[in-house]
Amino acid sequence: MAKKHIDEATGVETVGHEWDGIEELDNPMPRWWLWSFYACIVFAIAYSVAYPAWPLIQKGTEGVLGWTSRGELAKDIASDQARRKPILAALAATPIERLPDNPELMRAAIAGGKAAFKVNCVQCHGAGAAGSSGYPNLNDDEWLWGGDLKSIETTVIHGIRQPGDAKTRTSLMPAFGRDNMLTSQQVAQVTQHVLSLRGKGKPNAAGAQLFADNCASCHGPTGQGSREFGAPNLTDAIALYSNSPEAIAKQINTPSHGVMPAWGQRLDPATIKMLAAYVHSLGGGEDFQEAAPEVNNTPAVETHGQP
Ligand code: HEC
Ligand code: HEC
Repeated sequence: MAKKHIDEATGVETVGHEWDGIEELDNPMPRWWLWSFYACIVFAIAYSVAYPAWPLIQKGTEGVLGWTSRGELAKDIASDQARRKPILAALAATPIERLPDNPELMRAAIAGGKAAFKVNCVQCHGAGAAGSSGYPNLNDDEWLWGGDLKSIETTVIHGIRQPGDAKTRTSLMPAFGRDNMLTSQQVAQVTQHVLSLRGKGKPNAAGAQLFADNCASCHGPTGQGSREFGAPNLTDAIALYSNSPEAIAKQINTPSHGVMPAWGQRLDPATIKMLAAYVHSLGGGEDFQEAAPEVNNTPAVETHGQP
């Protein structure tokens, strides 16, 4: 270690360290550096006085400006609510079946419904609303309870087979096998008939008669289903459960019954309208038909499967 001395070439004092003959000059720090350093200190003190900064035992210092991240969030939420307010007011004032008259409101409702569906419905109906066994696909044009805006809204508000909701969608397929309404041979015969409705088995007279006597009241004489009872169409390839002979026989012996929550108590009416608009937009939405007038000479139009 050399001692401090004046460096000959520069005339500056050294700090006194030396490594293999290389020494360090004791130059003062540049002004600009020092001033930025002091400015940083001043800023840090001012900041920690103004904003929440120092952790204490119970909680941190709060800062004289009173800023909180919670407060910022509340402001964001309030401005978002202010933005949504006119849409919600318009939705509240519009009966669901009149929504298509206002395409702009319809678009806003569908977008809001898509977001609400992600929060409330995907756990049962799947992210793309394609459903799974027992949970109907909401994209196709087969509907258990009805696919116009009003029917969908009713289903969502009152749920399906919800005890405690007087207007819930409800019906129970009898347990024909378990309750000895049909013998196992008869169950096999009517299962054959159900398969034959879809062209998957030979028609049999005994099965057809059993179907007419026991099943047609809900599933319709040709098996086309009934929305009054939420009874599925048995003649197409779409199955709520499965189209296998075993699944059909099981449904006849000991039926399964889908249950869906009633959303009327959990979600506000505007959100439910948005959800109905979204579900309706998925591909199978049907036009709302006004209740038939008193005198009606035109033949009823079959709406099922309309684009
Ligand atoms: C706990 C599971 C569950 C959740 C959550 C759920 N659903 Fe359902 N949903 C069902 C089941 C099961 C059915 C079929 C019931 C039946 O068999 O009749 C159904 C049926 C429906 C139907 C009737 C379909 C038709 O063919 O008529 C609509 C519409 C519907 N759900 C919309 C929604 C919407 C919108 C949400 C979110 C707010 C939602 N569901 C959340 C289980 C659920
Ligand atoms: C009281 C009305 C009612 C009667 C009577 C009835 N069903 Fe059903 N059936 C239903 C309902 C409702 C469902 C749908 C259950 C659900 O939503 O979970 C259903 C579902 C089915 C399914 C499942 C369809 C699928 O897509 O997975 C089959 C198969 C079936 N019924 C066959 C029959 C046969 C055969 C009979 C006569 C022996 C019969 N049903 C009598 C109401 C009825």
